[in-house]
Amino acid sequence: MDLQSHDILIVGGGGAGLRAAIAIGEENPRLSVGVISKVYPMRSHTVSAEGGAAAVIKPNDSLDDHAKDTIAGGDWLPDQDAVWAFVSEAPKEMVLLEHWGCPWNREPDGSVAVRPFGGMQNERTWFAADKTGFHMLHALFQTSLKYNNVTRYDEWFALKLLQDDGRVQGVAALELRTGAIRALGGKATILCTGGAGRIFPFTTNAAIKSGDGMALAYRAGVPMKDMEFVQYHPTGLPGTGILITEAARGEGGILVNKDGYRYLQDYNLGQPLDVHDPKHPQKKTMELGPRDRLSQAFMKELDKGKTVKLETAAGVVDVVHLDVRHLGEKKIMKKIPFVRELAKNYAGIDPVHQPIPVRPVVHYMMGGVSTDIDGATSVPGLFAAGECACVSINGANRLGSNSLTELLVFGARSARSAVKFAADHPNINAAALSGQAADEQRAIVQRWFQGGGGKETLAGIRLEMNTTMETGCGIYRTEASLQTTCNKLRELKERFKQVSISDKSNSFNTELTTAIELGYLLDAAEAVAFSALARKESRGSHQRVDFPARNDQEYLRHSLAFRTDGDPRIEYKDVVITKWPPAERVYGQTK
Ligand code: FUM
Repeated sequence: MDLQSHDILIVGGGGAGLRAAIAIGEENPRLSVGVISKVYPMRSHTVSAEGGAAAVIKPNDSLDDHAKDTIAGGDWLPDQDAVWAFVSEAPKEMVLLEHWGCPWNREPDGSVAVRPFGGMQNERTWFAADKTGFHMLHALFQTSLKYNNVTRYDEWFALKLLQDDGRVQGVAALELRTGAIRALGGKATILCTGGAGRIFPFTTNAAIKSGDGMALAYRAGVPMKDMEFVQYHPTGLPGTGILITEAARGEGGILVNKDGYRYLQDYNLGQPLDVHDPKHPQKKTMELGPRDRLSQAFMKELDKGKTVKLETAAGVVDVVHLDVRHLGEKKIMKKIPFVRELAKNYAGIDPVHQPIPVRPVVHYMMGGVSTDIDGATSVPGLFAAGECACVSINGANRLGSNSLTELLVFGARSARSAVKFAADHPNINAAALSGQAADEQRAIVQRWFQGGGGKETLAGIRLEMNTTMETGCGIYRTEASLQTTCNKLRELKERFKQVSISDKSNSFNTELTTAIELGYLLDAAEAVAFSALARKESRGSHQRVDFPARNDQEYLRHSLAFRTDGDPRIEYKDVVITKWPPAERVYGQTK
């Protein structure tokens, strides 16, 4: 098989992947870069990010505050050296985006506008109305086009990391248009494939977020870090799971239960200050608490019978109401027009006149491919950035609007370290890599095109995986629920071997890619569930009913899940603490 070689390969054409490609060009435009993406880059999930990207810009804010908020928000699990690198490099990245054409909203005086976001004590979320990801991705994509040495492999689906001499030296990928399996070589490879929210049934994540990079790294021997920490965003539209951005609350929206009561005041998130009262410019209470606490509060309201029963196409679901009516049509259209569009189209209500029904929805994986502060994994030649990676800056709960900035900062950092690595390792073993890709081709043909018809179906396995993750590994967890989920996943991985596909065609065989994605999802799901079973404490988004307290003595540590032939092996690694010793998370107090 022919091998197409580049200096550096990037798997994933979303925000992190494009930022990495640009950073390589900035370092050395002569380096050749291959960007492999299973969708056209503008269809990457970054495009759907709404509310904004955090970075210090205003005089009343500081890097110290941004770091503190991020660390407290993450329940002291973030590595503090990584957080410091993140907050210090964030403003420069945002200004670069501005220079590349991202239309940040402005204040009347022309300066960059920022809005408040949950868990942040100062306003620092830059935004482009409520289509921030769309505008950022456009700016990144256009900018990447000026680097002639970037070759895009659009609609190529990554199958396997190719390794020789203990190093990752390339990727075997399926060219979706032809169905051919191709070998791509690279002195360094950066995974930027996003998260794996699709292991759950109700998620804001696009169908493409199937944990591809996580599974590729896991299969190559890299541990998955902190996978038990799964973020539920408190405001998803019932039925579809479409995100109603936190910006709606940042701009002053409130959450009420079935009695019209602002229930968050009962959950240690502060009192109902008027968020637009000039005496309280620091909006940090109630609806602007962190996402883990807000989603947990919803579950408590559900237990108390205080949620609203709503009929949807998917059956009756429990919701609360997000009310933005008091903001008025003018402000809604200026600051959160997409919220109105989505609510009208997908919930059949106009938020100018009616409250929006919402419920918690799986949104983000704090965990991912374990990397160091420069994006390097434990396997030489392999790097990761963005949601698929765990650096870690998010710890047990990510603050809203940190992830868009994270993909810029760590997309660029991982690119810079990949450039150095490639310079130090100038050779790849083309014959070995081609041979491995040919083996992968044979394995795919044998497994999916020549195998007999097994009795299991893709939809059946996926549904059972989704159900067991939600019931056993959701917002609240117990030993018994997690054990049941782990047992079920073990069974599903076995039964997955009996899945067959009926479409044997070559061109755009989506049944084949769905099958391979389901294998990736099962790998990501097992890392989540087994890591959650092993962590016998409650921290951030990981709430164990049977271990309700945080236990720093034993668990102020990152979990590392290693793939084995059986259940994953769980190990632990110390958290880096530099300046902010562990403390209680406190919200709702004025500064
Ligand atoms: O609510 C939102 O706009 C989501 C932002 C984020 O996840 O950072």
